[in-house]
Amino acid sequence: MSKRHSQFAHTAGSACRLSSWLSAFYTCCYVLAFFLCVCRELAAEISRDYAGRKVLCVGLLTGCFVFLSDLLRSLLVAYEVDFMVVSSYGSGTTSSGSVKMKKDMSIDPKGRDVLIIEDLIDTGKTLEWIVAHLKTKGVESVRLCCLLDKKERRTANVHVDYVGFTCPDEFVVGYGMDFAEQYRCLPFVGVLAPHAYGASEPITQTNNSA
Ligand code: PRP
Repeated sequence: MSKRHSQFAHTAGSACRLSSWLSAFYTCCYVLAFFLCVCRELAAEISRDYAGRKVLCVGLLTGCFVFLSDLLRSLLVAYEVDFMVVSSYGSGTTSSGSVKMKKDMSIDPKGRDVLIIEDLIDTGKTLEWIVAHLKTKGVESVRLCCLLDKKERRTANVHVDYVGFTCPDEFVVGYGMDFAEQYRCLPFVGVLAPHAYGASEPITQTNNSA
């Protein structure tokens, strides 16, 4: 765990040279095999913490869908799966800052142990809103799990219980994450090169959100 949390290591080697379309990316940060190892580690932690209980796993679509699938296939406790659709990013590279609910859960979470599963936490506003929303529904408990944590971007006061990797302030895509609905199914996470969004200089959520 400490190795994962210490830095978002850039492994720009062989995966970056796979084909020419990878020129849309600066860096291929992680490949699928590595994510599967991390999913197993996180699932083991979650399984220990929820031993003997039935957990209601709630994925925040769309970005979570690949991570959630890999994570839940390694879970060793009883669980049900539901989804919510919220959006804060729209079609650009910066967060709009306002959370919009597009689809609520189908299962009533009242009295349930809920585990929210996210691909990425940035400002934390989405998860802060979700936690408040679930509390109004009388959940027994709510915990948060995310694959990538952009800690330096946090403005909301949320505690994430299970984190795959700490992520730098760069716009990342792949493994479920998109830029204007592109790149979600890449089997790795990459940092977009400026020309992929029509810019000459790299942008991040920080320097593009003024
Ligand atoms: C992304 C991500 C989180 C949210 C995090 O979703 O999946 O839900 O932004 O941002 P925050 O911590 O600043 O609130 P996005 O709105 O891009 O939708 P998507 O999952 O459909 O890609």
